[in-house]
Amino acid sequence: MNKTLEGKVAVVTGSSRGIGKALAHGLALKGARVVINGRNEARLLETRQALREKGFDAVAVAGDVSVFEDCRKLVDETLKAYGRLDILINNAGLSLEGEVEHADPDAARRIIEVNILGCVYPTQAAIPHLKKTGGSVLFISSLAGIYGLPNFSMYSASKMALTALAQSLKIELGGTGVHVGIAYVGFTENEPGKMVYNTDGSLVALPKRENVKVEPVGKAARRIIRMAEKRIYRSTFSSLGLLLSAINRISPSLVGMILSMSYKKRQ
Ligand SMILES: NC(=O)c1ccc[n+]([C@@H]2O[C@H](COP(=O)([O-])OP(=O)(O)OC[C@H]3O[C@@H](n4cnc5c(N)ncnc54)[C@H](OP(=O)(O)O)[C@@H]3O)[C@@H](O)[C@H]2O)c1
Repeated sequence: MNKTLEGKVAVVTGSSRGIGKALAHGLALKGARVVINGRNEARLLETRQALREKGFDAVAVAGDVSVFEDCRKLVDETLKAYGRLDILINNAGLSLEGEVEHADPDAARRIIEVNILGCVYPTQAAIPHLKKTGGSVLFISSLAGIYGLPNFSMYSASKMALTALAQSLKIELGGTGVHVGIAYVGFTENEPGKMVYNTDGSLVALPKRENVKVEPVGKAARRIIRMAEKRIYRSTFSSLGLLLSAINRISPSLVGMILSMSYKKRQ
């Protein structure tokens, strides 16, 4: 493995499982020292243990990305442990399946808090330190951030907001040496136990998707890490994502029509 990130310090939010955990492993393989995060401390410590058993240097900071003080602590603890910050990956995110009309108001608010403010707050806390290292801040969006998906309305709204956030930030940070990137990640294999909000506001196990081609989690993580290495602004993953993105550029109304037809067929 080419250790292109040797000596760099990376914070990955929501990294006790799933894509975030794969990112932490991938970054460590490239020589980075990683700071992992999540709310469930026991799971977070298990992930840190797994990293340490492989000989990787890792620090765990429990906290909720939708709480600004927790994000300040995440960055403070990073500096205390490693003295610098080079890469922030805003990965923590939640999903809500259901139509707008039926979405539980508290669950809808939670999606906005975690998926939008949960990217804003760590970024605010990290910017002064990323300016010192000429580092990278990355946002993890989704195909739902390219075009609003039916039945994933709140999730789509939150992921599309990240496009605006990345665009504004890229301009605001122009000339500071800080790299901004946004990844439109396709359907990715999920770790067992992944929970999503139901319309009634309860957290339920992610329903198994039939006939959906998923990308291996390690592959998705490698593509995200490459964005930091090569300082790429925008990357769309999976052939479905590239197709959606291309049609959307030419004719957004055509994407709307295709989605509408397949949605009605499924009902
Ligand atoms: N999987 C996919 O198919 C897919 C596709 C496109 C985009 N994405 C995006 O990729 C990201 C990761 O998805 P995933 O599938 O790996 O999710 P996941 O398996 O559900 O893992 C989510 C991680 O985030 C943490 N987390 C959740 N809420 C948090 C909060 N408020 N504060 C801090 N940490 C929090 C979780 O730990 P705790 O629960 O302990 O906090 C966990 O470590 C998300 O932004 C998601 O929208 C996923």
